[in-house]
Amino acid sequence: MTTTADAPAAEAAAAVQACGATVWLTGLPSAGKTTIATALAERLRAEGHRVEILDGDEIREFLSRGLGFTREDRDTNIQRIGFVAELLASNGVKVLAPVIAPYANSRAAVAARHAAKHTNYLEVHVATPVEVCSVRDVKGLYAKQAAGEISGLTGVDDPYEAPASPDLRIEAHTQTVAESAAALHALLTERGLA
Ligand SMILES: Nc1ncnc2c1ncn2[C@@H]1O[C@H](COP(=O)(O)OP(=O)(O)O)[C@@H](O)[C@H]1O
Ligand SMILES: [Mg+2]
Repeated sequence: MTTTADAPAAEAAAAVQACGATVWLTGLPSAGKTTIATALAERLRAEGHRVEILDGDEIREFLSRGLGFTREDRDTNIQRIGFVAELLASNGVKVLAPVIAPYANSRAAVAARHAAKHTNYLEVHVATPVEVCSVRDVKGLYAKQAAGEISGLTGVDDPYEAPASPDLRIEAHTQTVAESAAALHALLTERGLA
């Protein structure tokens, strides 16, 4: 039963939830997701926001250890990250999730989880083309795939379903990291989140 005494507490909880958000950065390996998320996190923290980065690669070392790169395992990894992201975001945290998330329906499920709980969710496509990513090749994955040492590399011999209508598409290869982070920050400002 709701009493009048609960009303201020409920309002305070709603205010906390209203300033939280999940910002999912999807894109190919080496697109710049982690780099841009780190730059944005630095700026948001300096402004006093509470920020967590849920990086796909780091999550795979613990929370999703043992999962591989089949479609099912990739989806499980994304749903786990989405679950934790929503918990944090609903408690006022700005959650940045630089995670490849190649499948549109996996991303849609994460968005739906947020929507069901009235938690802010933004999808950002870090749209660096595969030709640029494969030259950057931060983790040597493109070289390994080319040498036949691995298979199932997103964007090369595994699908990447680019978002059809993201909240923001960052052409990260045509601008500096600082410019990309600024564009993301502007989006948060526009949505009343920064
Ligand atoms: N304009 C740019 N935007 C983002 N990253 C860039 C840019 N130019 C060069 N890079 C480099 O590209 C690499 C991207 O790696 P990373 O952020 O780990 O990618 P991802 O997390 O998408 O796999 C980094 O070494 C970064 O310094
Ligand atoms: Mg990364």
